[in-house]
Amino acid sequence: MNVLIIYGTTEGQTRKIAAWTATHVRERGHRVELFDGGALASDLKLGAFHAFIIASSVHQKHHQDTITSFVFAHHELLNARPSAFISVSLSAALDDEKPEAQKYVDHFVSVTGWHPSKTILLGGALRFSEYDYFQEQFVKFVVMKHSGAVSPERDHEFTDWNALADFVDGFLETAG
Ligand SMILES: Cc1cc2nc3c(=O)[nH]c(=O)nc-3n(C[C@H](O)[C@H](O)[C@H](O)COP(=O)(O)O)c2cc1C
Repeated sequence: MNVLIIYGTTEGQTRKIAAWTATHVRERGHRVELFDGGALASDLKLGAFHAFIIASSVHQKHHQDTITSFVFAHHELLNARPSAFISVSLSAALDDEKPEAQKYVDHFVSVTGWHPSKTILLGGALRFSEYDYFQEQFVKFVVMKHSGAVSPERDHEFTDWNALADFVDGFLETAG
């Protein structure tokens, strides 16, 4: 299969997730092209791909605009072929915030008109060492809601790579 993977990232974790996914799909014997949604070639021929994987992270309750616009523009093609959505957020990693992570996806689906064949809510990362004051305050007081579950003294990676592997394998099985 020819698989297209497009990702949106703000601090880099979703790039890492998309690159890991590309390697995993190639190891399963498929051809993969991987692009940053913010730097897409205008002559990219979407019709040449059999399956699509879109990965995007959440900031201030929304997925990246570049990904939202791309998916809205191509939702008919995406709906007609096997497609998977990897939604990366902090809420996805916190048990009591999972419904919040699902709300981000529900909103994305209602705005874009894309109905992915499969969706995973995947934990991202917190890189307090790289945040400016605003980013740190937002994460601490809005996303974590004073939960104290995560120490801002150090960086954290929440991505469950085994869950991602199972998700991608399940998708390839149904897409193939
Ligand atoms: C300023 C800021 C705002 C964020 N807003 C949210 C949010 O509203 N909900 C959420 O679940 N996670 C939120 N996060 C957590 C990110 O989704 C998480 O850090 C993710 O790994 C970022 O992926 P990226 O590195 O690919 O951009 C936020 C992170 C930052 C730095």
